[in-house]
Amino acid sequence: MCGIVGYIGTQAASEILLAGLEKLEYRGYDSAGIATVWEGDVHCVRAKGKLQNLREKLAGNENPAQIGIGHTRWATHGKPEEYNAHPHMDTAMRVAVVQNGIIENYRELREELKSRGHKFRSDTDTEVIPHLIAEFLAQSATATPAHSPSRLVEAVRQAVNKLEGAFAIAVIGADYPDELIVARQQAPLAIGFGSGEFFCASDTPAIVPYTRTVLTLENGELARLTPLGVEVYNFAGDRLRKTPRTLNWNPILVEKQGFRHFMLKEIYEQPGVVRTCLEAYLNSDWHSSNGKPPVNLSLPAELYTDLEQIQIVACGTSWHASLVGKYLLEQLAGIPTTVQYASEFRYAPPPLMPNTLTIGVTQSGETADTLAALAMEKERRMNQPPQFKPRLLGITNRPESSLGLLVSHLIDTHAGIEIGVAATKTFIAQLVAFYCLAIDLAYRRQTLSADSLEKILEGLRLLPAEIEMILEVQERYIEELAHGFVDTQDFIFIGRGINYPIALEGALKLKEISYIHAEGYPAGEMKHGPIALLDAKVPVVAIAMPGGVNYEKVLSNAQEAKARDSQLIGVTPKDEGEAAEIFDRLLPVAMVDEILSPIVTVIPLQLLAYHIAARRGLDVDQPRNLAKSVTVE
Ligand code: F6R
Repeated sequence: MCGIVGYIGTQAASEILLAGLEKLEYRGYDSAGIATVWEGDVHCVRAKGKLQNLREKLAGNENPAQIGIGHTRWATHGKPEEYNAHPHMDTAMRVAVVQNGIIENYRELREELKSRGHKFRSDTDTEVIPHLIAEFLAQSATATPAHSPSRLVEAVRQAVNKLEGAFAIAVIGADYPDELIVARQQAPLAIGFGSGEFFCASDTPAIVPYTRTVLTLENGELARLTPLGVEVYNFAGDRLRKTPRTLNWNPILVEKQGFRHFMLKEIYEQPGVVRTCLEAYLNSDWHSSNGKPPVNLSLPAELYTDLEQIQIVACGTSWHASLVGKYLLEQLAGIPTTVQYASEFRYAPPPLMPNTLTIGVTQSGETADTLAALAMEKERRMNQPPQFKPRLLGITNRPESSLGLLVSHLIDTHAGIEIGVAATKTFIAQLVAFYCLAIDLAYRRQTLSADSLEKILEGLRLLPAEIEMILEVQERYIEELAHGFVDTQDFIFIGRGINYPIALEGALKLKEISYIHAEGYPAGEMKHGPIALLDAKVPVVAIAMPGGVNYEKVLSNAQEAKARDSQLIGVTPKDEGEAAEIFDRLLPVAMVDEILSPIVTVIPLQLLAYHIAARRGLDVDQPRNLAKSVTVE
């Protein structure tokens, strides 16, 4: 949510900043801006709307500055207008700041600063920061030599100590052409180490085209970047020793490779993602008789010892994956499991229960609510008797993220970075991680027979090919079907059991990228209210997988919708005679075991949402009002 970048070195900064912002545009695209220091002044250019508008404004503007900061905004405080775009400056326009996060006490600070003569030009919370820094710089002018190298970093340090909330900032000053200061408190910030040049960014895709040597700042740290090196301090001013690490990075992931949108490319990456994740964690030579465990997640035994319950915290699509996870953990491993919205859990946690594993699920690894919920759980369990001690596990495709810093154990889903704002491949990968975890626990607790275990493992290994089949054989057909719904205004998605979360996910995908109102329901709940919405204008998508207790029930619920004139679309195997008779249209999937079916049933729903949105001519990868990393509450 908002992306910040910074550069200091020997090259012209503007183009590097713009290229970095392009890589971070998924974090927000309401406005963008850059500021550089050149010939003793701060030069700031900002534009409302997408980055392209800023590019156009900067075209032909020769700016050789070798230091600068940039921002792409997802509006929190203040409308998405140019005057609210970052960078923001102090009254004398000598200090420029970009921020990602929310300054919670900005109102008091603003009033105090105004009463001391500071002039404000925006409605944002961020603007208090350059004013505070300018004030601390002015105060230190008498105490230290005017251009003392420590003055800017010290003023930033004093300013961040006044701020409450979550933030990552980058700061430059007209009188400090060789210094870029960054600070982090609960919002991501990485520093890239080039040779004679240094970078900072909210996320590593903006840095990796230049260097893979990266240091992730931790909460309560600030850094001074100069062309000669990087110094890291804590907010108390103590110098810290830090070691950067080398990122293992595949640049192909951030290119479209001929696909019209990142989302479609990422849908097509799903067979590979499932395969990679399974290869990473399933023991290929497992057999019930050879004594080896079927899954190796490299998690320590103490995470599992005497386990009595699991609680999962997540948001959005990751919350949907967690609901599938709950089903698997309860039905396969027999462990009572709850799934909570992280934003609710953090302020109303359940009473402490002993021997509890808490799992945080997040594709970005940066969602503020999920991180805060996990941090709160860690904190409140810290000084408790041994059976209440925190056991935290993260599930993410970004092990290098803030989640990785917070929890001691991770399952890397191996999906890599996802650029399309609507989560697709990261969702599938989270599902696979839950299958592996549930199987691991079922094996350790002996809740499944060897035959059942073998059947599930065999089925899992076939899934990549089943997804490939839907993509190769059905996509064209789904595209045509989707085109018939471009003017539809409401959709209902229904499912039961393990496919109820997939109904929720199908509805979320559709509404977030096509702006069509959609709701997901457990099929049996329709008659308790939502059925009143149905008529010939409201299509119902029903997920009906044969082989379990839910199939006939979903078909009956679908019939009830049909009796209200709804057009019925079935996500079901093609050759199922009964379903084919009931449904008006089919989104066909392979015949797989119901317990494994979410991994295939979600695919046509992703394609349906994608093709409706693309046909409506919408910005599929960057839907309005959304951001890929939600780093504010
Ligand atoms: C929807 C989507 C969001 C995210 C949610 C949580 O397609 O991507 O609903 O799932 O914002 O994000 P993460 O998983 O990064 O915690």
